[in-house]
Amino acid sequence: MVTAEEKALVQQTWALVYCTWESKNGVKFYEKMFAASTPIKEAFESFGTTNIEEMKRQAILFGDMLNSFILALNDEDALKCKIQGMIATHKKRNIRNMGLFKVAMQQLIAFVGTEKAAWTSVTDAILAQMKTNL
Ligand code: HEM
Repeated sequence: MVTAEEKALVQQTWALVYCTWESKNGVKFYEKMFAASTPIKEAFESFGTTNIEEMKRQAILFGDMLNSFILALNDEDALKCKIQGMIATHKKRNIRNMGLFKVAMQQLIAFVGTEKAAWTSVTDAILAQMKTNL
């Protein structure tokens, strides 16, 4: 059960990271995630993310998707629907390894770097929803 306080803390700390996502943080995060997980890096490479421009494009799409999750934390149905949609596009590419979604979320918690307990609670709830759709 995610508390209202945890949701608020995640929204506040995400807003700080997201405001420079396009100019800086998105690529920085993708570089860290690819360095942390060869399978994630290779999955992106196999779909054409082999240069910095494409990495930036993917990082922006990821950040916007995550932003839409975080804005919907207080609307359970909307959040479920967004997660389901995101998982559907990954399943079409045969990306259905739950462990890798967890790695991505762990990387995100480390990247934000603050309010880790709240982030763990929120991302665990998101991952649990992903699991039901995978
Ligand atoms: C955990 C949260 C994740 C979020 C929010 C997320 C979000 C997205 C978004 C918004 C897109 C672009 C829209 C689309 O075409 O579907 C995308 C594409 C993609 N994602 Fe994810 N993703 C996540 C995790 C992962 C993981 C763990 C992998 C690999 C194991 C992965 C691999 C890919 C690939 C290969 C593409 C397509 C790249 C391309 O077409 O060039 N994603 N993701």
